[in-house]
Formats: sequence, C-alpha cells, structure tokens
Amino acid sequence: MTDHRRSHTKEEQGLRRPSSHSWVEIDLASIRHNVRTIKQFLGPGRHLWAVVKANAYGHGAVATAAAALEAGADGLAVSCLNEAAELRMDAGIRAPLLVLAPGEPRAAAWIVRLDILQTACYDAMVEALSRAAQRLDKPARVHLKVDTGMGRLGLRPERAAEFARFITEAPGLRLEGVFSHLATAESDDPAYAQLQFERFDTVVRELSAAGIAPGLRHLANSAATLRFPAMLLDGVRAGLLVYGIRPDAPGLAPLDLRPAMTWKTRLSFLHRLPPGCCVSYGCTYVTERECLVGVLPLGYADGYPRRASNRSRVLLRGRMCPVIGVVCMDHLMIDASAVPDAEVDDEVILLGRQGNSAITPNQLAEWAGTVVHEVPTVIGHRVKHVYLDREQPPDPGRGPEGEPP
Ligand SMILES: Cc1ncc(COP(=O)(O)O)c(C=O)c1O
Repeated sequence: MTDHRRSHTKEEQGLRRPSSHSWVEIDLASIRHNVRTIKQFLGPGRHLWAVVKANAYGHGAVATAAAALEAGADGLAVSCLNEAAELRMDAGIRAPLLVLAPGEPRAAAWIVRLDILQTACYDAMVEALSRAAQRLDKPARVHLKVDTGMGRLGLRPERAAEFARFITEAPGLRLEGVFSHLATAESDDPAYAQLQFERFDTVVRELSAAGIAPGLRHLANSAATLRFPAMLLDGVRAGLLVYGIRPDAPGLAPLDLRPAMTWKTRLSFLHRLPPGCCVSYGCTYVTERECLVGVLPLGYADGYPRRASNRSRVLLRGRMCPVIGVVCMDHLMIDASAVPDAEVDDEVILLGRQGNSAITPNQLAEWAGTVVHEVPTVIGHRVKHVYLDREQPPDPGRGPEGEPP
C-alpha cells in the first residue's frame, strides 16, 4: 500500500505556505484595555471571571486568557474539561479556572489534581469528587450552580440549601462559590431577570440561615453587568465585554470598550457583469445595471453567516459594499461598483474598521438574524489568527501590520 504521508520533496523544502485567504487580527492590547476597564467599573474586591469558552468566542483561548489575566482578570471560565485542559495542561495557566459544565465523575481525579473549580449540580459528581479528594489528599473545589430560571444547568432553588449541606459535609470538598445564569439579561423587559435575581438572593439567604458560607456569589453576564448594578454581587462572568463587544440590550451603562477582533480577506476576483445576470446559487440576485462584481475567497465554511446573504455589507477601500447573491461555502460576492478602481488583492474588511467606517459584530449579527455571541465564535478553522499588540511599537521583524501569516 502507498504511504501518502511522505516527507517533504525537494521542491517543498523551505517553501512558505501561501498566505491565508482570510484572517482575523486580534489586538491583545484591546483585550487588556477592556479587562482593566471592566475591573475599574466593578470596583475594588469584585471578581471578574473572563469567559474564554469556545476558544474565547473565536479569539483564541490561550492568547486571550493570558492577556485577560495580565490585565487583572481574577479567573477564567470555560465550558468543559477539554477547554480547561488546553489552558491548564497545554498552556500551563495556573489562574483560577471555573468549568461551567456539570462535569463527569470519571474525570474527578483529573479535576482535583489540576485544581479546577468545578460546577457542582448533581450528586454523583460530588461523590466522585469527594472520593478523588480523599484519595489524593487534596481539596476538590466547587461552585454550586442554581437554576433560577434558565432551565439548563443547576439545582432547583428549593433543593439548593440541602445540596449545599451535602457538599459541605462531603469529605474533601470545599464550597467556594454559588452561582446562576440569567435567561433574559438582554431583553427589553427586565422583569424575568429581576425574578431570577430574587430567587438567587433567597437561596443565598437560606444558605446563610443554615450556617453555610456560600463563597463567591456570581450571576451577571456582560449585559447584566452594565444593566443591573444590584446583580454585581461578589463578581461577574463576562465574555462579550472582554472582547470589546457591547451586548445588544437596553439601558446599559457606558463603558469605553475596544473591539479586539478585525476580520479581513482580499478580493480574489473581479468581473463586470451586464444587466440581467444571475449572481450565485439559486439566482436570488440578478444585476439591474452593469455591475462590478467582486469575489471574496471565504464563505459559510469559514463562519460567514449564510443567512446574511443579500443583506450584509463589507468594507472595500473604506466604502460599504453590499453582499449580493447567496453566500457560498468558499466564496461570497459583493457589488463593488462604488469602488471603480478596486483591484484584485485589495484588502476587504468583514468585521472591524476601515477608514471612517466600521462593521461591528452586532451589525453582522443583525444582518444574519442571530445573536452577537455567535458571530466571532463560529469563525472557522481555515481563518488564521494573527495577534497584534497595538500598545507597543511595531516589530521591525514582522511584516507590515495586517500581513497574513
Ligand atoms: C454560564 C455563563 N456565564 C457567563 C457567560 C458570558 O456571557 P456574555 O458573553 O454575554 O458576557 C456565558 C456565555 O454564554 C455563560 O454561558
């Protein structure tokens, strides 16, 4: 049988890969600025958990986590044990690391050994952590999750005090926090979020009445942080704000945020189509006049939302150009007629600023009919990450800013 994984040929040796068809630039100085700004807003003593799950919403977990910690984040929150492994084992990050998922009993020893803060919301997990803690002679640190109305993870409020007692009496376990998650922090009507807060407050009071110290109390995500001062409690779990994205919610306190991500590509092809020509699958767009059509070498395989077809815009030479026709897997088309001097290889902005114009993730989310969280998070693995640090002078060893890897 032929082995197709052969070593490099002579022609391949020393060759650089062709540049990336699309890339995101992540400005780590912006992440640090946002974290410092949030910390200042929270005031002394309140914890900021930087939520870096899902590869830091597409920004890159390790680099983002390191920047957030450097700027004063008190801990990191991730979704699952795999994400915790990437930060703790692969990157050697020693900061407090909260796993938001309910955990897996078979991973209990691993969790204890790596000093992970584990969400506790069911008996078998607590029992497994207790056994592992005793065996390893090391405490298992947990945050109790209460389901105050999200209907996803956590104990019903009426069971919380009894479960907290179970935790505190389990040998080797340490209850270090109690938390919940809001279902409607962004909604126009704040009533349901207030109800969840009241339920959470009642649980905390019940714990205190039972002589159980709840540890850190945390409830707010980014929107609630800027909207409901009473919900700041002992700390918040913020994702969007760390990335410089303003939640789409009414009544937010002002905060000087800097968007950390710019998503770029280059024009890969240009052609003039006469009136009456179809553009892309399904012929959902037909040119009404002569049209300078630009082709961009990325599509929904790269996380550009297909639902933004015929709705969104991109920036070319500082001008907004509409996306025309449906977004394909690997290509999307734009009407570049407003930029008659456009050339193949021109830089195009999908998210971010060019000249005096900008496209925010919120705007792209609206075009695509989705939530702002989804926009950076689903950017695909073909899109390279380029890390910049705009607080520092340009490194002469690196190519011009924005040069893809
Ligand atoms: C449990 C939990 N807490 C906090 C957050 C952070 O939310 P945001 O990015 O809106 O701040 C999330 C994100 O989905 C979450 O699932």
